[in-house]
Amino acid sequence: MIIAVDGPSGSGKSSTARGVATRLGLRYLDTGAMYRAVTWAVLDSGIDLGDATAVAEIARNLDLTIATDPSAPTFAANGTDVTLLIREPRISENVSKIATNLDVRADLVRRQQDLIAAAQPGGGIVVEGRDIATVVAPEAELKVLLTADPEARMARRQAELAEGAVTAAELRDQIVRRDADDSTVAQFQVASDGAVEIDSTFMTLEQVVEAICQLAKE
Ligand code: ADP
Ligand code: CDP
Repeated sequence: MIIAVDGPSGSGKSSTARGVATRLGLRYLDTGAMYRAVTWAVLDSGIDLGDATAVAEIARNLDLTIATDPSAPTFAANGTDVTLLIREPRISENVSKIATNLDVRADLVRRQQDLIAAAQPGGGIVVEGRDIATVVAPEAELKVLLTADPEARMARRQAELAEGAVTAAELRDQIVRRDADDSTVAQFQVASDGAVEIDSTFMTLEQVVEAICQLAKE
């Protein structure tokens, strides 16, 4: 079984997808973390982020090791554990630039499809991102488009960050600007055939997990 969860930043994809995978005994894949890992490797290499060919080469040669256990999803890039490093603001600020590189996308989509195939003998996988239902796994049995108002998404991010680590204006820029940057990729978050939209603005995390688990049983 494949469950696809797509949606914008702060809609609750990672936490709900992990919760659903844990409840249903499935594997879990955070595809956004893969784009973040490539961004980490590009920044680490010191090359110009605007050099599309060099960026694509970094992605192609990247040794990416991904644990799809929902209780401990980890990412290693070229032997370095980047699980925490890829959450740093410098990565969030630059990841959309890397994600608009079509060669990088093709490379990562292929890796994602391999991980999905590898999870099938174990029962299946919950995959979250922006283009899972449209590009990565259009064959998914359940496709969820998770949304929430920008204000709610910003408040969730704010609550996550250490007090004083970021101003409200910076946070707004990150959500609003990243929404705008991501909206230039045509395949993102469009309601694909058979996708169920869940607006989580006024739902708790547990309610969203429950709703998706119910849909998976239908
Ligand atoms: P995304 O992966 O879409 O960026 P996350 O899963 O990282 O979103 O969620 C962002 C934050 O919002 C997390 O701190 C998470 O615990 C919280 N959160 C997720 N879903 C809800 C919800 N339905 N109600 C309130 N907070 C939520
Ligand atoms: O957690 P958050 O929603 O803020 O971001 P993420 O899921 O970690 O994704 C980071 C970035 O990766 C997004 O802003 C997109 O630019 C990109 N991404 C993508 O291009 N395709 C995906 N399937 C997932 C993420």
